[in-house]
Amino acid sequence: MIDLRSDTVTLPTPAMREAMYHAEVGDDVYHEDPTINRLEEMAAERLGKEAAIFVPSGTMGNAASILAHAGRGEAVIVGNQSHIYHYEVGGASTLGGSPMVVVQTDPDGMLDPHDILINIADGSDEHSAPSALLCIENTHNRCGGTVLNLEQVEQLSSLAHTHGLKVHMDGARVFNAAIALGIQVKALVQTVDSVMFCLSKGLSAPVGSMVAGKRDFIERVHRMRKLLGGGMRQAGVIAAAGIVALEQMVNRLEEDHETSKQLAHGLADYPQIDINVDRVQTNMVMFSVRNSRNEPMGEIETMQFLSAAGEHGVLIGHIGQGKIRAVTHYGINASDITTALIGIRRALIEL
Ligand SMILES: Cc1ncc(COP(=O)(O)O)c(C=O)c1O
Repeated sequence: MIDLRSDTVTLPTPAMREAMYHAEVGDDVYHEDPTINRLEEMAAERLGKEAAIFVPSGTMGNAASILAHAGRGEAVIVGNQSHIYHYEVGGASTLGGSPMVVVQTDPDGMLDPHDILINIADGSDEHSAPSALLCIENTHNRCGGTVLNLEQVEQLSSLAHTHGLKVHMDGARVFNAAIALGIQVKALVQTVDSVMFCLSKGLSAPVGSMVAGKRDFIERVHRMRKLLGGGMRQAGVIAAAGIVALEQMVNRLEEDHETSKQLAHGLADYPQIDINVDRVQTNMVMFSVRNSRNEPMGEIETMQFLSAAGEHGVLIGHIGQGKIRAVTHYGINASDITTALIGIRRALIEL
């Protein structure tokens, strides 16, 4: 089975399992786990921030960051296609009491600066929740792994900062973004106040994400992590895999970007597939399928196509409205893509 549903299906590497076995551990709630302390120092250093904290998941990292930046009743501006808005159970609002103000996401993952501007509330009007935070996403999941470049990140940060808002980057796959741009990740996140990235996606660690930012902010995230039940004890056994992820798995993300482009070009040769190959910038490929009447497939037909692809050995995900997402990752090589393209062609023939 060739599993292209997500880069979260990656399994830990042999080096990770070895490191986990030998990890030195302690009670992390007392800050006494040497492996976690080392991972946090490494992450802060890689991102060019004062401090970092290990959290169990990207969702918790985003929630704890939002809670640490914005108080109850303070608004958080998010994109209408963002992961924070769509897939994190409304945590900013349900846990933090922060209304989410939703602005337009462009197809490349960029937020519309004008839309942000007209939605910033400075607190002078008693009817509106004052804006405290802008959240941006890089790479952008629902836009198909698209990358915000340095200028775009700087433009959004400067707009937010000018109006007194902090900026949080949901950088679940920020290393993919930096690799695609050919720049250091610390340059890409320099102007944001905080960034969350996942160890458990393309970097292939089994569990965990990091949040990085200023020291006083990270101290507040510590309290929020405890509030959310994410204070772990001898979690150095999993942090050890995170260290290997940062040391050994970052540069190889380039291979995933190559296999995703191979997949995209192969799919573009099939007349039933609608795909914008230029939008394939990292490890994700977004496409949709036309039925035998040459119309875009609806939900049910798309699900039937995906199940046929599964029967031909290829697992792919549906993100709604007929949009299909395939993700390349550690464990998928060029010959797997060739095999996957054959499986997909067979599924298309059966339509
Ligand atoms: C952009 C983005 N942010 C956050 C998350 C949440 O990460 P986790 O699944 O570790 O909670 C994901 C997960 O896919 C994601 O794609």
